[in-house]
Amino acid sequence: MIDPCTLVIFGATGNLARRKLMPALYQLECGGRLPEQMVIIAFSRRDWTRERWQEEVAAMLREKYPKGYNEECYKRLCERLYYLQGDLHEDASAEQLQKMLLDDPRFPANTIFYMAIRPNDFGETIERLGKAGLLSEEHGWRRVVIEKPFGYDLLSAQMLQGGMHRWLNESQIFRIDHYLGKGTVQNILVFRFANILLEPLWNRQYIDHVQITHSETIGIEDRADYYEGSGALRDMIQSHLMQLLALVAMEPPAMMDAESLRDEKVKVLKSIRAIPQNAVHAHSFRAQYKRGSVDGKSVLGYLEEEGVESNSTTETYAAVKLYVDNWRWKGVPFYLRTGKRMAESASAITIRFKHPPQHLFLNTPLERIKPNWLLLGIQPKECLRMELSVKVPGLEMRTRTTSLDAAYRKEGEEEGDAYEDLLLDVIEGDRTLFLRYDEIEWAWRVVDPIIKVWSMERDFINTYRAGSWGPRGTYRLFEREDQFWRHSLDIDGSDLEAY
Ligand code: BG6
Repeated sequence: MIDPCTLVIFGATGNLARRKLMPALYQLECGGRLPEQMVIIAFSRRDWTRERWQEEVAAMLREKYPKGYNEECYKRLCERLYYLQGDLHEDASAEQLQKMLLDDPRFPANTIFYMAIRPNDFGETIERLGKAGLLSEEHGWRRVVIEKPFGYDLLSAQMLQGGMHRWLNESQIFRIDHYLGKGTVQNILVFRFANILLEPLWNRQYIDHVQITHSETIGIEDRADYYEGSGALRDMIQSHLMQLLALVAMEPPAMMDAESLRDEKVKVLKSIRAIPQNAVHAHSFRAQYKRGSVDGKSVLGYLEEEGVESNSTTETYAAVKLYVDNWRWKGVPFYLRTGKRMAESASAITIRFKHPPQHLFLNTPLERIKPNWLLLGIQPKECLRMELSVKVPGLEMRTRTTSLDAAYRKEGEEEGDAYEDLLLDVIEGDRTLFLRYDEIEWAWRVVDPIIKVWSMERDFINTYRAGSWGPRGTYRLFEREDQFWRHSLDIDGSDLEAY
């Protein structure tokens, strides 16, 4: 049986709650997965009542599920919803929360505090909770879910970690990286370690390079406040994309338990070659979107978005080239990129293999052989594809590219959002899919030199048109001319042509 608990969401009226948390809680409610007596307290500065909050949640769900949502589930969820107006920078609000949690019998003693707030406020909020006695486990357990980025750079992450440990044991801390909750991300491990076929090829001898991409058509929405202090490098690369890199590059763990997996991921992160400050430009590229059009609609440039400083050099696009200096990967570039307001929303890992050692088709029309690609679509296309060259029927020696598809999902198989799984894990106290501190620290060590250089260069930033695939200048990261960003997971039309 799952313990009844109280979930307190700090920053409940923000973007994360609207896009991810409330829809996930609603889905868990529909699936009957929430503990019977669980209640949810939304904590926010807005001067709202409980009724207003319930209406807002209905609006969030309508936005998320335009074809209609299940009224019965919503009603059940509604009964769990409470609202507390307050500001955790003020003692009075902490006291009010304390009273509510400790004295009111409607709220089960086991408590989860979810930090859906600005990363700058994590430390102070935890400190206040600690001082108010709300983190002590005297009457039931206390868990803190902390969103990314964990810190602002290496130093601030170390300070945050130190501050948290004054009030919490490691077992109470759930550092979330919601990418680890995605089925397609978990499938990387299954694909690599439950099949023997690829293992002999999974190394520097056969792999030319690896690309990890996360592109989005959305802009920064109403998150200027957060994004201005974060930028694409911290928002996506230091966390989600570095985790994907670790899963692709790690050695098989001794066992599939959480600690063994984390140990192997940390080994990869530790092996990433440090980027000296004078090589930052050779290893990274940043840019900002300007006006353009996305899905046929004109959209504003980053500098015109509400809440963004007119001279901001915050990057909405970041790309980096990394090398994992170990036996398996020495010399293989890993290219990571992410951007807002791009041509498509897509996350994928694309791996290009080397050419065969000898070209045996000389003196035939087949002059250029296309390399093999392995494509792991994370979202929205969930796929696992291997591209191969095959002969075109006919008298001449011509080829085309075809793909072997190992679909991730069969028709009718549904998958929930990562936040559903992860919230349930927190409720059940399972930390397997959450980050260990050293993973975060090593990821900061990798990006810190880039952050330092970028933060000093405040006069200029490259731009790209909203709705495009990003700035052209990013191609300078590639080691060779025959390397290029792979945007699509489909076989490129030109590949179908005979050479
Ligand atoms: C979040 C970032 O962690 O991930 C957002 O802060 C980004 O900027 C989001 O939009 C992407 O998540 P998903 O699950 O939509 O790919």
